[in-house]
Amino acid sequence: MTPAASTAYDAAVSAAGPRKMLDVRNVRKHFGPVVALDGVSISVEAGKVAAIVGDNGAGKSTLVKILTGVHQPTSGEIAFDGQPVVMHDPDEARRVGVETLFQDLALVDDLTIWQNLFLGRELTWGGPLRLTRKRAMAERAREMLSGLQINIPSIEARVRRLSGGQRQAVAISRAVGWNAKLTIMDEPTAALGVKERTEVENLIERLRDQGRTFLLISHNFDQVMRLSNEIWIMRNGRVVGHRRTAETSGDELVALITGAKPAEIGRKPSD
Ligand SMILES: Nc1ncnc2c1ncn2[C@@H]1O[C@H](COP(=O)(O)OP(=O)(O)O)[C@@H](O)[C@H]1O
Ligand SMILES: [Mg+2]
Repeated sequence: MTPAASTAYDAAVSAAGPRKMLDVRNVRKHFGPVVALDGVSISVEAGKVAAIVGDNGAGKSTLVKILTGVHQPTSGEIAFDGQPVVMHDPDEARRVGVETLFQDLALVDDLTIWQNLFLGRELTWGGPLRLTRKRAMAERAREMLSGLQINIPSIEARVRRLSGGQRQAVAISRAVGWNAKLTIMDEPTAALGVKERTEVENLIERLRDQGRTFLLISHNFDQVMRLSNEIWIMRNGRVVGHRRTAETSGDELVALITGAKPAEIGRKPSD
């Protein structure tokens, strides 16, 4: 038991519980006759890593596409940092503060590291102040990567020359680095070897410890158990379980994912 709250404000805050960065309520998505999401409700606490696990066809990618403005929900509500939002396209999702790290990274090999970090944001690329702005962008990129303790040869290096792990570090930095409130990662280490995967996981841990908020989609149970604070389990377009990571096991997750264990939608993880 925590001591009684001392002010009305404290009481209100503790009654409201942890701050929710993302709150998805009863989202449905139909593609013609296909029901891809059948009333999904999930939330992500600020400064935490929430994971979604589920078999192929469970609806994970459809949910990610809705959260990134690629698809619109058929019905349901999404609140972001306490505000209801409607995101018509990926630019709008970015403006709201949702960044996504896709499997294919979307880095441009022939550009430098700092140019990749500013890709799609180089609003001030041309004009008379071009050189000054270039220097300022390179400097900001350098600060960002050193703040994240990312080991890269030089900010001026072309992305082509980087190892798989370094490339992923640049992609993750881009996805968290520009005031993202929520970074969604869909299988962030699927294409990496063991050593590089560990490096990337260490980076995600550091970012989480700095207060960043992540939604992680992963098939790798070890990774989910290591990085996440809570886990949402999806099957056939529904949420069939929700666990605090510290209170579950790989075996239980497999049982929920496959349906060997009955759905327990009503069960809330204990505090
Ligand atoms: N654009 C689409 N058109 C029709 N059906 C789709 C589309 N996208 C996904 N689906 C269907 O929605 C369901 C969920 O798919 P998906 O979200 O890709 O699952 P997951 O990422 O968990 O494997 C599947 O039955 C899939 O075939
Ligand atoms: Mg998918």
